[in-house]
Amino acid sequence: MNSISRIVLLIGLFAFLILPLCAVIGEEKKEEENLKFVGATKCKMCHNLKKYGKFYDDWESKEHAKAFDTLSDEEKKDPKCQKCHTTGFGKPGGFMELDDKDSMKMVGVQCEMCHGPGEKHIKSKRNGDVIPHAWEPDEKACEKCHNPESPTWKEDRYVDEDGNKSGFIYKLAVKKMNHSKVFEELGKKPPKTGDL
Ligand code: HEC
Ligand code: HEC
Ligand code: HEC
Ligand code: HEC
Repeated sequence: MNSISRIVLLIGLFAFLILPLCAVIGEEKKEEENLKFVGATKCKMCHNLKKYGKFYDDWESKEHAKAFDTLSDEEKKDPKCQKCHTTGFGKPGGFMELDDKDSMKMVGVQCEMCHGPGEKHIKSKRNGDVIPHAWEPDEKACEKCHNPESPTWKEDRYVDEDGNKSGFIYKLAVKKMNHSKVFEELGKKPPKTGDL
């Protein structure tokens, strides 16, 4: 075999192996984008029991739950502000417009903005199948809103142990939002973020 046909063969083999994989990843991404948001009241019935942790009460006591009330009546009407102060803005099941009954259940920054749309997960069973969320509450999830596009962004809001300043430092911010009080009541530390 000459070297040209060897290269052609290699390219062909590469395409044969890689392209179907790309298609699968593409499909998964599409599915994640189309999953429905269901709203925090749906999470409450399974995640506000003392035995398993009162995650709902914890969320309700924090800033994210009040993120829509914080806006003035004029600002509430403005899609530019709605974008980061509601849940699933413009997405299936998410906030669409002010005064729409279903949309008004999706105000504030609810569970699914950190955990991903819950359409499939809410069919999980205790001691049975737990269907994972569409995404994890990681740095990338936070930075969809915690970025300089926020009109209240302050470059020196966070200062880390080395004196670096930024409007958002994940490892400091997440400790305020990782339900540490709930985990404490369960006698554990937050498994993923407790050691950050
Ligand atoms: C029908 C009950 C039920 C509903 C409704 C429900 N969950 Fe769950 N969820 C579970 C069970 C069971 C587990 C496994 C852990 C446990 O037993 O607490 C779980 C685990 C989780 C976990 C950890 C696993 C993971 O995927 O990261 C998160 C986060 C979570 N739920 C968030 C939510 C959110 C947010 C909602 C609302 C959109 C919700 N749950 C609605 C039953 C439910
Ligand atoms: C890119 C996402 C984003 C957009 C768009 C956005 N906000 Fe916010 N908003 C945030 C975040 C994140 C915070 C938390 C503080 C911070 O980091 O800016 C916040 C906090 C606030 C607060 C509380 C201030 C405080 O620090 O306690 C007010 C009030 C507010 N925003 C008003 C608005 C208004 C009015 C608009 C529309 C003109 C708007 N926001 C658009 C993300 C956004
Ligand atoms: C600001 C983002 C944010 C919001 C909003 C939020 N969570 Fe979480 N949640 C987290 C983070 C971060 C963790 C991971 C804690 C760890 O494991 O260190 C977590 C963990 C959890 C867990 C435990 C997962 C496990 O591994 O056992 C449950 C259950 C959960 N959240 C439910 C909820 C529910 C229900 C709501 C709304 C009522 C909610 N969360 C709102 C960020 C959020
Ligand atoms: C959908 C947009 C959105 C997402 C996603 C989001 N936040 Fe926020 N966050 C806000 C808004 C808006 C506020 C201001 C709420 C208020 O004061 O009324 C806020 C406030 C906060 C605050 C209090 C203000 C500050 O910066 O000290 C912390 C801490 C915080 N968020 C951490 C997180 C973390 C950690 C994540 C990811 C795990 C996250 N947020 C994801 C929009 C968001």
